[in-house]
Amino acid sequence: MFSTDARDALYDIIRMRRDVRAEFSGDVISDDVLWRVLGAAHHAPSVGNTQPWDFIVVQDRQRLEQFAEHVAGCRQAFADSLPEDRKGTFGPIKVEGIVESGTGIVVTYDPERGGKHILGRHTIDESGLFSAVLAIQNLWLAATAEGLGVGWVSFYEEPFLADFVGASGPVRPIAWLCVGPVTALQEVPDLERFGWRTGRPLTDAVHRDTFVGTALEQDIAEA
Ligand SMILES: Cc1cc2nc3c(=O)[nH]c(=O)nc-3n(C[C@H](O)[C@H](O)[C@H](O)COP(=O)(O)O)c2cc1C
Repeated sequence: MFSTDARDALYDIIRMRRDVRAEFSGDVISDDVLWRVLGAAHHAPSVGNTQPWDFIVVQDRQRLEQFAEHVAGCRQAFADSLPEDRKGTFGPIKVEGIVESGTGIVVTYDPERGGKHILGRHTIDESGLFSAVLAIQNLWLAATAEGLGVGWVSFYEEPFLADFVGASGPVRPIAWLCVGPVTALQEVPDLERFGWRTGRPLTDAVHRDTFVGTALEQDIAEA
């Protein structure tokens, strides 16, 4: 169905995707590329085909600065909550590129989209939220394919961001995404580079039959 090159390109994009904070070039995403990555987001699967997301594009510099100021306060509050050794490790870690990216995309989730009888959500209410998160991942991968960086910012108070973008009622802002051209993508996640937390191997994450089952790799080796 797809050529080997196309398949390899997809895996490369998945592997190269990074959370970007410091590498935004200062250029602003063009409108046609912005619409392409939003189109990719809008193609995400969603429970009951509800498409419970909306995307609010923020490019006004004053508004970007205003949100960055709020985030700085939340970052400080987190730093203040840390024990001394972790405070030291956290110090140099940048947690956002709100102004430098030139574009913020706020993704919202509307739990009421689709009405009361949503096919697939009657036992797992969060499946609506999961759907909106999939839209974010689609956007992130499409942006990577376009040579852009994306940085997910969650250092904010939800009521502040809801008010900031005028999301009312049950509609929740679930992410602020910094999106823009980059000078380069780091090969190693920032949190690993700065010694905050390393990733774990896939073999630790895959199990046979139950959560506490043997690691699949070991299982295969012993067969
Ligand atoms: C739900 C979510 C919230 C995140 N919030 C932040 C954030 O506020 N600031 C930040 O710098 N990175 C944030 N990140 C990025 C993670 O730190 C990053 O994905 C992780 O360290 C792995 O790095 P990678 O995405 O480059 O592979 C967030 C990621 C997710 C999925």
